[in-house]
Amino acid sequence: MAADPRHTDPRRTESGLPIAPVYGPEDLEGWDARAGLGRPGEYPFTRGVYPTMYTGRPWTMRQYAGFGTAAESNARYRQLIAHGTTGLSVAFDLPTQMGYDSDAPIAAGEVGKVGVAIDSVEDMDILFGGIPLGEVSTSMTINAPAALLLLLYQLVGEAQGVAPGRLSGTVQNDVLKEYIARGTYIFPPKPSLRLVADVFRYCRAEIPRWNTISISGYHMAEAGADPAQEIAFTLANGIEYVRTAVATGMDVDDFAPRLSFFFVSRTTLLEEVAKFRAARRIWARVMREEFGAQNPKSQMLRFHTQTAGVQLTAQQPEVNLVRVSVQALAAVLGGTQSLHTNSYDEAIALPTEKAARLALRTQQVLAYETDVTATVDPFAGSYAVESMTDGLEAAALGLMARVEESGGAVAAIERGWQKGEIERTAYRIQQETDSGERTVVGVNRFRLDAEEPYQPLRVDPAIEARQAERLAGLRARRDGPAVDRALTALRRAASGSDNVLYPMREALAARATVGEVCDALREIWGTYAPVERF
Ligand code: 3HC
Repeated sequence: MAADPRHTDPRRTESGLPIAPVYGPEDLEGWDARAGLGRPGEYPFTRGVYPTMYTGRPWTMRQYAGFGTAAESNARYRQLIAHGTTGLSVAFDLPTQMGYDSDAPIAAGEVGKVGVAIDSVEDMDILFGGIPLGEVSTSMTINAPAALLLLLYQLVGEAQGVAPGRLSGTVQNDVLKEYIARGTYIFPPKPSLRLVADVFRYCRAEIPRWNTISISGYHMAEAGADPAQEIAFTLANGIEYVRTAVATGMDVDDFAPRLSFFFVSRTTLLEEVAKFRAARRIWARVMREEFGAQNPKSQMLRFHTQTAGVQLTAQQPEVNLVRVSVQALAAVLGGTQSLHTNSYDEAIALPTEKAARLALRTQQVLAYETDVTATVDPFAGSYAVESMTDGLEAAALGLMARVEESGGAVAAIERGWQKGEIERTAYRIQQETDSGERTVVGVNRFRLDAEEPYQPLRVDPAIEARQAERLAGLRARRDGPAVDRALTALRRAASGSDNVLYPMREALAARATVGEVCDALREIWGTYAPVERF
């Protein structure tokens, strides 16, 4: 007689939950499809946020790109649009992300490296030259200085004749995860949260279609978080932002419809699908039950996905095309709204043009050649995926309860708790890979004796000098006293409780630079020093 597969030792998911060799009706006993799932587009949105999902409109193909100068990045965006990308996603260099100008001594060696260098409205104008901002939606991966880049985008839109009400896009603006995992924070948590709330309020009044934040688990996952930790810590940060905005007197339904999220998609397809479904359900319940949100849009967890960069390998890089296809499929089966597929050469350097095109083609094959867009949430009712969705939901809720016990996300961050938990998981994964318990094709199994040579894309080091020259020209040309007056008004707002975005917009329009505006805020708010937990 064959052994009952249920009695063999269960494997564990990435979150460490048991995954049974076979699932059946007994695993869903007492399970209420109506309460737990609802219909697509209905509370609790387990099956997706829109009733028709991809049968109505495919997800947005939004490839993260940007390097060097504004002109070079503009050329890459036009190329991506020509190849069929349906949304833009801007990568900024580190000095911009940290609020420094390209000619600041601290920026040396980093200008234009991991993204585009933006110092002023003039760079922003070049970045979006010839791209109709009333027709595309643009995501900007910018956190501590998110308000500035949003305002620069608005100024460029206005110069193109596009009213702010027609602009659509997202700023990442999620500084809490910067303290936990990504590192581009400037100010301490309190003024950072106040700035986030100012953005919510400003967008509500001035740019109502803008997604004001992209609450991100991606970077925590890249730092090692498992799927349960990823959604738990992300949703806990989300709760902190909602509490902050509500505490400033905003009605939850005035800002919650424009909150958005950002997750990773790994090669463990089944667990990832379960993760996306569980995250939607948890968020809908939190918003309705804890915050009393009435508008269904406030309860919907809309999210962007990026395929897992950390799972790509420098060895046999073409194998990454296969990994990315599986990861992208998981995101689509999980109901993502927007997707970035990594290029196969990303573990080595910035993507070459061909690799970037192939990454986009992967999404196009999924959208237009497969049948996964023909029906909504095809895994619904699957014994395995529903069981895994419930399991992940319970695990994430358990971790969220621990964050609450620590006094909420900020209090836990200040103790370094999430960071410590994530580091522990990262260490375990590394040990499993080193011991061979975890297979990484081409790395610890199925290796080649000699890797084929590869020609990576390199950023021109002369960019730094060119940006510095442009800045010197800008400072000579602009009305210096007008810039000083605007920066003084900004400092005044920052030390009181007025929304800082209005004087900030004046300063940027007068051609104050990103570094100068951030310096003005640094003077008032100070900077953050991380806690190390040993
Ligand atoms: N039925 C009806 N309407 C539908 C529909 C359907 N089936 N599908 C879509 N729509 C509508 C939507 O309602 C929406 O209309 P609205 O603007 O009036 O609300 C419109 O079509 C656009 O659809 P979505 O809002 O679903 O999709 P978007 O692409 O516009 O937005 C998002 C998606 C997740 C909400 C948004 O926040 C987003 O685009 N995020 C992207 C974030 C991103 O790219 N981040 C990059 C990070 S890289 C990084 O961090 C760098 C490194 O460190 C890794």
